[in-house]
Amino acid sequence: MSKKIKYLITGGAGFIGSNFVHYLFRKHKNIHVCVLDKLGYSASLANLKPYQDCKDFEFIKGDICDDKVVAKAMAGRQVVINFAAEVAVDRSIDDPQSFLKTDIFGVYTLLEEARKQKNFKKFIQISTDEVYGQILKGSFKENSETLPRNPYAASKLGGERIAYSFFKTYNLPVVITRAANNYGPAAYPEKVIPLFITNLSDGLAVPVYGQGKQMRDWLYVEDHCTAIDLLIKKGQDGEVYNVGAGEECTNIELTRRILKLMGKDQSLINFVADRPGHDFRYSLDCSKLKKLGWKQKYNLTDGLKLTVDWYKNNEAWWRPLKKNLDQRFVSGFWGEKK
Ligand SMILES: NC(=O)c1ccc[n+]([C@@H]2O[C@H](COP(=O)([O-])OP(=O)(O)OC[C@H]3O[C@@H](n4cnc5c(N)ncnc54)[C@H](O)[C@@H]3O)[C@@H](O)[C@H]2O)c1
Repeated sequence: MSKKIKYLITGGAGFIGSNFVHYLFRKHKNIHVCVLDKLGYSASLANLKPYQDCKDFEFIKGDICDDKVVAKAMAGRQVVINFAAEVAVDRSIDDPQSFLKTDIFGVYTLLEEARKQKNFKKFIQISTDEVYGQILKGSFKENSETLPRNPYAASKLGGERIAYSFFKTYNLPVVITRAANNYGPAAYPEKVIPLFITNLSDGLAVPVYGQGKQMRDWLYVEDHCTAIDLLIKKGQDGEVYNVGAGEECTNIELTRRILKLMGKDQSLINFVADRPGHDFRYSLDCSKLKKLGWKQKYNLTDGLKLTVDWYKNNEAWWRPLKKNLDQRFVSGFWGEKK
């Protein structure tokens, strides 16, 4: 029998990380998965409940900036996917320091331990399209200029460049992904789609920043997972890969689509003050990833329907998280429209 592949999934109690754990166990046999997560505000252990008695699963509570805990979690691992990060742009504008710590120093700590492992196969650094900054026309390619415009995006760029330097300097097999906005089951309800669904479930208005004219490309989380899985096998070391769905939509159009799916009318739209330096549009050219054989499965219509249904059927998951959510997210993080 072939030996088990040993994965380390950091941030695996969060949104994309936990979806990736589900994906791995659905798609692969002969694997062992260790999740390292500090269980921050956006994490939910309920996401990992299906594996609590699984002999091929281990959970370690800890911080990726802590070299001792990272050494323990990394021992004998062959594949690392680093999802752990401080993620919310609004929070990074409010308090940049924690972003610099986790999203740069934390990545460095993981890389240092990864390069001590024997038979190490792949380090996937999950980055974001926000590292490019905004683009008004056309789409970013992997070699486009990077001009991050908020502390979250700048920290993520720092983290991925440290990872690249470990490839160049120490030959560590690093692959970097830059993904578009993800949505789907188990996203923390401060993110726009689950925030709007859960607000509407409670009969509350939905806070739309500015005029809602910003454009985003929406990637269903399972499609992100299939891309990462493919890149573990086929991604070229030292390379960056864009991961987007090409499902562009303005925020106001997205809001109207959610209202319609929830059977609510437009009187529940509340235009609020815009985020400072709000990026207007992101768009990714994903031909490099597609050449490796990746194809997305979900368009925005199908993905949104699945997401709305998931939140309708999983109130017990989101209610405790929503209860503790900073109320600024619920009514508009930057306050009343000026
Ligand atoms: N959500 C998106 O739209 C999106 C898009 C592109 C890229 N990404 C990237 O994907 C990754 C996951 O994002 P997400 O949306 O699932 O976020 P999330 O907040 O749901 O999950 C992040 C997880 O990381 C954990 N974590 C945070 N700091 C940690 C630390 N110092 N040590 C250990 N664990 C820590 C949290 O507890 C949480 O469980 C991030 O790296 C993010 O930058 C997200």
